[in-house]
Amino acid sequence: MKDFSNKVAVITGAGSGMGRYLAILLAKAGANIAACEINQSTLAETIAMLANYPVKVSSHILDIADKAAIEALPEQVITEHGCVDLVFNNAGVAVDSSFEDMPEDDWDWVFNINLQAVINSSRAFLPHLKQRPEAALINTSSIFGMIALERQSVYHTAKFAVRGFTESLVKEMKGSSVQIHCVHPGHIGTNIVTNARINKSEESANSMQRLVGKALGLGNSQEELAAFFRNNGMHASRASQIILNGVCKNRSRIMVGTDAKLMDLCQRLTPNHYEMLFPFFTLPLTLLRNKKPIKGLPVEGNVETVKA
Ligand SMILES: NC(=O)c1ccc[n+]([C@@H]2O[C@H](COP(=O)([O-])OP(=O)(O)OC[C@H]3O[C@@H](n4cnc5c(N)ncnc54)[C@H](O)[C@@H]3O)[C@@H](O)[C@H]2O)c1
Repeated sequence: MKDFSNKVAVITGAGSGMGRYLAILLAKAGANIAACEINQSTLAETIAMLANYPVKVSSHILDIADKAAIEALPEQVITEHGCVDLVFNNAGVAVDSSFEDMPEDDWDWVFNINLQAVINSSRAFLPHLKQRPEAALINTSSIFGMIALERQSVYHTAKFAVRGFTESLVKEMKGSSVQIHCVHPGHIGTNIVTNARINKSEESANSMQRLVGKALGLGNSQEELAAFFRNNGMHASRASQIILNGVCKNRSRIMVGTDAKLMDLCQRLTPNHYEMLFPFFTLPLTLLRNKKPIKGLPVEGNVETVKA
């Protein structure tokens, strides 16, 4: 796929982070947008930003964990836009908890959004994508679909599975008009920690905090951690641009960020002890970003939501 001009793109989780900037950068490139989100107010902000571009935009409020809502989505998009060329299964959530202390409800929440919704959406949209001369299905996994840390068992379970599912589809769709992509971001400065469920009933600090927080003198609150996470990762607009470049170059595996690439390298070099190598580059990278924040790409009407 050489460009996105006049294509119709469905994006889940379009109210924040990478989903918002995928929508904006695609609109900037001339694509029409079907923006999907559970959060009405953040989606309205994205829609306001999209109004700066001369493309057709439709807004779809839905919970992607609702199978019936996902099954109804292709028809709604086709009614609005006439066809669908690109589907970004981007929306995701996180829980920070040991497996033993994790409420089953939290497990199901992450599992249904991060994995089952990706599968249901792929099943619902693939027949429509196959009718287009060139199309793409883009599923977001994570670097946490390649390496595993403590207290992230459900996130890893979902993201490893998204990777396996998507890589299998890459092979099944070879020779068809549908490109299949699996996205593996490293640390991107979004609202994912703000929206995460952190198991506060446990005494120990959570894993993300242990990785970087103590060295930087962070407190214990979710708000502090979320603000730190958002302010010190790669800007979501840059991550989204890398994803779109990967789609244009038909890269089935799209790695986003130096940290993701280095973590992947570590797990190849030392499959049993890779996490011991991470502080040698995650901390310097974080300190570097802290010292010299990397600005977002220029887009029209930026109204960043600051939640914490
Ligand atoms: N931020 C990172 O460092 C990072 C790293 C690796 C992978 N990822 C993945 O990237 C994707 C995008 O996350 P982000 O970092 O931009 O987070 P974000 O929290 O900024 O955005 C996620 C969006 O998904 C929406 N969403 C959540 N549950 C939903 C549901 N049930 N139905 C519809 N929409 C829903 C949220 O409201 C939010 O707008 C996720 O799949 C995440 O797991 C993020």
